[in-house]
Amino acid sequence: MKVTVVGAGNVGATCANVLAFNKIADEVVMLDVKEGVSEGKAIDMLQTAQTLGFETKITGVTNDYSRTADSAVYIITSGIPRKPGMTREELIGVNAGIVKGVVGNCLKYSPDAVFIIIANPMDTMTYLTLKATGLPKNRVIGMGGALDSSRFKYYLSQALKANPAQVDGMVIGGHGDTTMIPLKRLATYAGTPVSELLDATALDKVVSDTMVGGATLTGLLGTSAWYAPGAAGAYVAAAVLNDYKRLIPSCVYLDGEYGQKDICIGVPAIIGRNGVEKIVELNLTADEKALFAKSADAVRATNNVLKEINAL
Ligand code: LAC
Repeated sequence: MKVTVVGAGNVGATCANVLAFNKIADEVVMLDVKEGVSEGKAIDMLQTAQTLGFETKITGVTNDYSRTADSAVYIITSGIPRKPGMTREELIGVNAGIVKGVVGNCLKYSPDAVFIIIANPMDTMTYLTLKATGLPKNRVIGMGGALDSSRFKYYLSQALKANPAQVDGMVIGGHGDTTMIPLKRLATYAGTPVSELLDATALDKVVSDTMVGGATLTGLLGTSAWYAPGAAGAYVAAAVLNDYKRLIPSCVYLDGEYGQKDICIGVPAIIGRNGVEKIVELNLTADEKALFAKSADAVRATNNVLKEINAL
C-alpha cells in the first residue's frame, strides 16, 4: 500500500525512513515545499536499500500532490517545529494555515485516505483537519499518545532499570507539557503494577519527566525531537495499513466518550484499516477524571484560537 508523508523535515523524513526500512508500506512518498529536499532525502534513503535490505519504493516530490494519488494514509508533519522555550500551542498561528491547505490538497488525490496528524499543536491540528474537511471521525488520528506513551515507557524503564520491552503504560489527554496524563496506576513491568516496584516519589518523577519529555529534547537539540515522533507516526500508520487493530492512545474525536464532545484529545483507541475502529472507555478514578477534564479545557481553549485566526 502507498503512504505519503507530507513535510520532509526531521520528523517526516524519519517517519518515511522507518516506514521503508521496516517494510510497513510498499511505496512511500515524501512531499515538501522546499525544492529538492524530499527528492534528495528519498535518494539518500534508497541508497541504504541494499545495505539495510529493503525494496520499498521511495519517491520525493516538491509540492506535486498528484504524485501522492491513491495513498491509503497521509502523515502530516508540515509546519514549523518549536524552539527551546516555546510551547507547542504557540505554533498554531503558522501551522493552522499550512495544515489546512495541505490536507485539502491531499484529499483531491486520495479522497479515501486516513490522516495521521503530527503537526503541532497536535490536538488542535487534528481537530482542524476534521472540522475543515468534514471527514468522518474515524479517518483522522493524532499521534501524540503513541509518542507520549513511548516517552513514559522510556522513563519507567530507566527508573525501574528494566528491559524497556517489558514495560507498558499509556498517556492520555492532550499532547501538551501541562495537559498530558501518564496513567501511572495502569503502568506495568512484565504484568506487575509499577506501583509495587517504585515508590510514589519515583513514580511522580517519571510522570513529570514524561510530561516535559518533548521540551527536554527541544532544550538539548535546539529544535523539537524527531526519532520518537517519526517512529510513533509510522507505528500508527502500520496499524492502519496492516489492519493490526492496535490499541494505541490516540488523539481522536470524542462525541460523548469520557464526558467530552466536539474535541480531539488522547484516549485509548483501536486502530485498524478504517482508522479509529473503536474508542476504549477506561474506568478512570475521580482524580484521573478531574485531570482529563482539565486537559480537555486546555485543548478546547487552543481550539478556540482557530476561530480567532479565521482558520475555522
Ligand atoms: C514532540 C513534538 C513532536 O513532542 O510534539 O517531540
